[in-house]
Amino acid sequence: MSKERILALTIKRVRDASKDENAGHDWWHTYRVWKTALRIAKQEKGADLFIVQLGALLHDIADWKFTDKKTLDSKPVNKWLEKAGADKDTVARVAYIVNVVAFKGSGVKDNVRSKEAAVIQDADRLDALGAIGVARAFGYGGYRKRPMYDPNEKIKYHRSFTSYKTNQSRSTVNHFYEKLLLLKSRMKTKEGKKLAKERDAFLRQYLRRFFEEWKGKE
Ligand code: ADP
Ligand code: NI
Repeated sequence: MSKERILALTIKRVRDASKDENAGHDWWHTYRVWKTALRIAKQEKGADLFIVQLGALLHDIADWKFTDKKTLDSKPVNKWLEKAGADKDTVARVAYIVNVVAFKGSGVKDNVRSKEAAVIQDADRLDALGAIGVARAFGYGGYRKRPMYDPNEKIKYHRSFTSYKTNQSRSTVNHFYEKLLLLKSRMKTKEGKKLAKERDAFLRQYLRRFFEEWKGKE
């Protein structure tokens, strides 16, 4: 099967699968990650654009937050790629990406061992920053029926993926502290770092304004 054909089939498959999804992982999130990943990959020497595109398109298919599974599971991705006619090496490289990109807690180091995974992780995280990041965070909080802010809640530090999964902050503003504001310093690529700097600055500006209004000073 040609690379173009595998990509076209995968785009259709992911669009269909995310049709009813609206908690931050809709098709348009995938679309932005795909485009941003391509932009970053073109600046990174040695990133395979076919693997980058497949990884970006499939990165959220097996997300733990939206399945009953307690761990990341790349099986649906393996099955899909085999069905679409991808070779063994491609399947393994994309499955690796899907297993490794997620944020697993402030105290858990990212351990990304392929250039393509670094590109996709950066692209995915950029979509959690900036104006879109703010919108997605509050959208997700609403989906979970969580308060936007609770001044009495302490910021949580997670030492393990299990603790991050089971003991997240209740308030969306605290999610900025347990994850979003930490992303800038974890970027892996040059272009990712540059873009993250601007989007992180926007988050900080947003929070300053949020707290001013909360206190009634604006
Ligand atoms: P990633 O793909 O980087 O691992 P996630 O899948 O964890 O990101 O998150 C998807 C989106 O949902 C992000 O924009 C993230 O900020 C948001 N999100 C995840 N957990 C929370 C939360 N507890 N409160 C608010 N937003 C959240
Ligand atoms: Ni994502």
